[in-house]
Amino acid sequence: MQEPKLKIVVVGHVDHGKSTLIGRIFYDTNSLPDGKIEQIQKACAAEGMPFEYAFLLDALLEEQEQNITIDTTQIPFRTAKREYTIIDAPGHKEFLKNMITGAASADAAVLIIAASEGVREQSRRHGYLLSLLGVRQVIVVVNKMDLIGYDAATFDAIQSEYRDFLTQIGLEAQLFVPVSAREGDNIARRADDKMPWYTGPTVIDALDGFAAPRPDAALPLRFPLQDVYRFDDRRILAGRIESGTLKVGDTLRFQPGDKTARVASFENWHGPERDYAVAGESVAITLDEQLFVKRGHMASHAVDSPAATTRFKARLFWMGGHELPLGARVRLKLATQDVDAEIAHIARVIDASTLEESSVKDRIAKNDVAEVTLTTLAPLVLDRHDQLESTGRFVLVADRKVSGGGIVLESVAGDSVVTGSAETRASNLTWSESPITRRERTRRNAHRGAVVWLTGLSGAGKSTVANATARALWEQHKQAYILDGDNVRHGLNANLAFSPTDREENIRRVAEAAKLLADSGQIVLTALISPYRESRAQARAIVEGGEIPFIEVFVDTPLAVCEERDPKSLYKKARAGEIKDFTGIDAPYEAPETPDVRLDTQTQEVGVSVATLLEAIGAQV
Ligand code: ADX
Repeated sequence: MQEPKLKIVVVGHVDHGKSTLIGRIFYDTNSLPDGKIEQIQKACAAEGMPFEYAFLLDALLEEQEQNITIDTTQIPFRTAKREYTIIDAPGHKEFLKNMITGAASADAAVLIIAASEGVREQSRRHGYLLSLLGVRQVIVVVNKMDLIGYDAATFDAIQSEYRDFLTQIGLEAQLFVPVSAREGDNIARRADDKMPWYTGPTVIDALDGFAAPRPDAALPLRFPLQDVYRFDDRRILAGRIESGTLKVGDTLRFQPGDKTARVASFENWHGPERDYAVAGESVAITLDEQLFVKRGHMASHAVDSPAATTRFKARLFWMGGHELPLGARVRLKLATQDVDAEIAHIARVIDASTLEESSVKDRIAKNDVAEVTLTTLAPLVLDRHDQLESTGRFVLVADRKVSGGGIVLESVAGDSVVTGSAETRASNLTWSESPITRRERTRRNAHRGAVVWLTGLSGAGKSTVANATARALWEQHKQAYILDGDNVRHGLNANLAFSPTDREENIRRVAEAAKLLADSGQIVLTALISPYRESRAQARAIVEGGEIPFIEVFVDTPLAVCEERDPKSLYKKARAGEIKDFTGIDAPYEAPETPDVRLDTQTQEVGVSVATLLEAIGAQV
């Protein structure tokens, strides 16, 4: 069986023979259209020029240019083993942009160095770029061996110098192949006569030795929404599946906001009926429930879902026209998300060719690679690049141009106070890095922080369960703290009443405060009615935006039971009209549909509820 197509990129210094190598590969693998070579030979003869394999590539590109439908140049060839595409021709002006945006994500790379020239600045910069982009399969072709009399010592010197460099940037070349692309030595045909000292494979054999790409369909699902269309009361969600498989009946989790619904149907099949779609396909789906999701939201399955965060570490490559100072604002695009981002911290600036670390930490110059912390004004849904490439990679836009790009190293937890919800009104704020890491706190406490969000009617038993659980955690030598609605409304939220807007603000502030406490290592139990589904989703987004576990607990006690308990005689007052907008009486309570934990205080003893809750907390901290 034929292996899947492999996408390779050929990089190297301009004069080191990329075009010749590519032309030669086409020729040696019989991948040229009939008559092409004769046509070019004739044209050369007519102009009195010697024939060059590089012309083949130019001719192919020219032909392609006449019917350009995609902005990436892709040229196919095949060996006995499989098909290949060379993505983005060398010298193509969009090369860097395409590489960084992933318009062309390569499965493997061929780095070319001319033996007569040796390792150049561009050779190093390209090596760095490959490591930055996460291309892991690399061979190095040492070209123009004919010009140095096929000298083994020169080849060895280049190999050891460049291997050292690659090691420093965390890349390992699988192989160094000495070749002459012009003569066809060691491309498809072994050059035992000229280089008997080289016993390794030819370039073509080396390409065939690359591992086939892992099918994206087997990876976790990422479905970034491109658009949401409304037809009557139906909503159709459209987008391209970046990775994974999506099936009718799947429960999808949408972030940010953490809403879930099931896939009801596919809407746009032209072909035979199907009930699934895979990575790379563009689809339009409907859900079994109308969710308010929009472009930029990302769907995944409940497990293996991406992080939603406003703060993450990244390695980026900057090629903008101006320097990027600390605190600079740029637009960041990741999948279909488009947010304002700020360079909050610069950890390292590295010259991509010398690999020297600059002492400058307050700006990033053109062609610099930097390790930075980025903050975004709205939550961004992302993956670590080493875990999922397509949603772990982003571009930076400045002056309406793609001016840089990078990969996500990790989403940051640790004194993470950036709001995931409210717009920051103030300007001239800078981020102060914490001197103590989340990991250090976890080690000292012997557990992580978390937010346990209890929701339910007044009188349902939220405070009772929260108090007993906090006590039990304390006995287990765990840090626990309660944020109780009634208490918080005496201080932090003393200026809020019970209108929908005030309740929403109540929830937001408590979520932010809970996030801070959890960041400091506490297991925070909140006891608030929190009657609105949307507000609870927002609370989750705030907390999870700081990489803190959020456990939604529905203290499920029927209204009649709460009213009968009426511990504070508030239901009686509400019935008598003395309290307005009382939850359950003349204000709504939207019960959670899929809480993480449901406690039935009507039939369960408090001890049972506490045990259930302790177990759920134990699994997260
Ligand atoms: S929430 O709706 O904003 O989440 P929260 O839990 O903070 O409410 O406060 C609810 C508590 O405030 C109740 O337990 C009750 O003691 C008191 N309260 C006073 N007026 C109201 C009201 N109109 N609706 C609900 N609770 C009220």
